[in-house]
Amino acid sequence: MKMKKQNFPFPLFLFFLISSSTFHAIYAGDLIRETCKKCAQRDPNLSYKFCVTSLQAAPKSHCADDLRDLGVISIKLVRRNMTSSRSYIKELLKNKKLEPFVRSCLHDCLDLFSDAISVTKEAMDDFKSKHYDDANIDMSSVMDASTTCEDGFHEKQGLVSPLTKRNNDTFQLTAISLSIINMLRSNYTLLD
Ligand SMILES: *[C@@H]1O[C@H](CO)[C@@H](O)[C@H](O)[C@H]1NC(C)=O
Ligand SMILES: *[C@@H]1O[C@H](CO)[C@@H](O)[C@H](O)[C@H]1NC(C)=O
Ligand SMILES: *[C@@H]1O[C@H](CO)[C@@H](O)[C@H](O)[C@H]1NC(C)=O
Ligand SMILES: *[C@@H]1O[C@H](CO)[C@@H](O)[C@H](O)[C@H]1NC(C)=O
Repeated sequence: MKMKKQNFPFPLFLFFLISSSTFHAIYAGDLIRETCKKCAQRDPNLSYKFCVTSLQAAPKSHCADDLRDLGVISIKLVRRNMTSSRSYIKELLKNKKLEPFVRSCLHDCLDLFSDAISVTKEAMDDFKSKHYDDANIDMSSVMDASTTCEDGFHEKQGLVSPLTKRNNDTFQLTAISLSIINMLRSNYTLLD
């Protein structure tokens, strides 16, 4: 008699566990799409498709509960992307036959990215402590690093930047972070 009573709640508990995580994933998907829609509306430079693809592919994004979680995820994405670009630049610099102009551009990018990576850490602290104005300044300077790096290569006519795709990715990812920061910033007084 006792056993029967104890057996019953178990599958029920499992059922709720499974369905709540499934619903959570669906909810997070909606949150990403809604956020990206707003981001793309606010920033014409930002592609909706890129935003959704990037955020959905990010680790833990299916657990995101709100805009603040997505903000943290997007700042991490920027940092990871820049760290990877920095390693890639170091690889490129190993090539002894690099044109001196390209080499100097790559060195500039390396410096810019190293600084920017530490700024993303400050941005994360500022974001988490809801200092959205500071987080905005931080991420704006991170965004500048990707454009300044890319522009360097274009100073010499006919030169193809080996970092265009990566810089564009970083630029777009940073635009997502900035957009989220600014959404939260504009509602600052409504938040706790
Ligand atoms: C879009 O990108 C251009 C070129 O980088 C920049 O000058 C402009 O400020 C950007 N617009 C927004 C809304 O971020
Ligand atoms: C950088 O971001 C882009 C866009 O989300 C992605 O396709 C690429 O794989 C990322 N690179 C790294 C190393 O995370
Ligand atoms: C940058 O990436 C976006 C999104 O993937 C794309 O729409 C845009 O054409 C790219 N721009 C450049 C200059 O590659
Ligand atoms: C910010 O305010 C607007 C309009 O008041 C609202 O639609 C939006 O959901 C709010 N965003 C957040 C993150 O609270």
